[in-house]
Amino acid sequence: MMERKKVLVTGAAGYIGAHTVVELFNSGYEPVMIDNFSKSDKTLLSGIRAITGKDFKFYEGDCNDNIFLENVLSQERELSCILHFAAFKSVGESVAQPLMYYKNNVGSLITLLEVMKKFNQNKLIFSSSCTVYGQPDSIPVNESAPFKRAESPYGATKQMCERILEDVVGNGFKIISLRYFNPIGAHPSAQLGELPVGAPNNLVPYITQTAAKVRNKLTVFGNDYNTPDGSCIRDFIHVVDLAVAHVRAMEFLDRAQSPTLLETFNLGTGVGVSVLELVNEFKKVTNVEVPFTIGPRRPGDVEKVYGDPTKANKLLDWKTKYSIQDSLLHAWQWEKKIRGI
Ligand code: WQD
Repeated sequence: MMERKKVLVTGAAGYIGAHTVVELFNSGYEPVMIDNFSKSDKTLLSGIRAITGKDFKFYEGDCNDNIFLENVLSQERELSCILHFAAFKSVGESVAQPLMYYKNNVGSLITLLEVMKKFNQNKLIFSSSCTVYGQPDSIPVNESAPFKRAESPYGATKQMCERILEDVVGNGFKIISLRYFNPIGAHPSAQLGELPVGAPNNLVPYITQTAAKVRNKLTVFGNDYNTPDGSCIRDFIHVVDLAVAHVRAMEFLDRAQSPTLLETFNLGTGVGVSVLELVNEFKKVTNVEVPFTIGPRRPGDVEKVYGDPTKANKLLDWKTKYSIQDSLLHAWQWEKKIRGI
């Protein structure tokens, strides 16, 4: 039987990390997982076991802690790749707590790269973000678009991380940076999904918690933007489609002949949907009312952004399979599962 390739996954108990671990198992990899549970808990680890029927090695610790990372890499020698999800990801929260974001997101990448160098690990898949584009001059935005000023400290951390990757790649690293648009939805089995700690910062978990009556009503942050219905526009991508793209990206790295490499890919659907359109779509798909009110704009928000995924479609042989309706239905099924309704 073919030896399973061992890959290290940081932030593996998080929303995107956990869904990616499932797809890694499905594709015959052996994930070794790291998380410090700062923004997650063990619920999603149980979900991974329930879906895959497999157990896994798990190390609890912080990617800012070089001693912890050196211990993991000294025990896990034959890693074929490292997938780095561990980071804070809320635009709104980053405006309120910029230093926490810079220290965690930039610091943990620097620490990881230093330890990778020490242990001769050179292959990395990095979780970047469409927020690196700021408010792009033209949409759909493609990977060659220049970085505008990031609208939030979160986006700025991702711009800085991508610059760090550019500056170190010459030292023998082979790196892929995946620019996520808006990940939403949950695993179709309803065994995995988003588990925000405290009140959700992101739109879809706030919608599902409002639908579940955990929240009284949704606040739509602004309807005075220069968009057809006045609300912001985003590219909402199913989290399982996003997870599968990580397996395709590792396969791309394995095929790459050059000794050093840095490639970036947009991971989006290529379709823009507004906040109000999404709320209406949720009601259509689930037949559940979501009471909402219009509030002030949220600092740090980009007005409209959606991606051109052509490069990933071609070079990663990857396309999104799930519709926005699938994403909303799966998100609702997950919410009902965790609330016991
Ligand atoms: C979307 C829209 C809000 C909550 C996310 C990830 C980030 C990155 C990009 C991966 C905005 C509006 C939200 C609410 C609202 N992805 N909204 N009421 O800010 O686009 O960022 O995608 O790296 O990591 O967080 O997502 O869901 O917070 O907001 O009106 O209660 O929904 O103003 O226009 P965002 P979001």
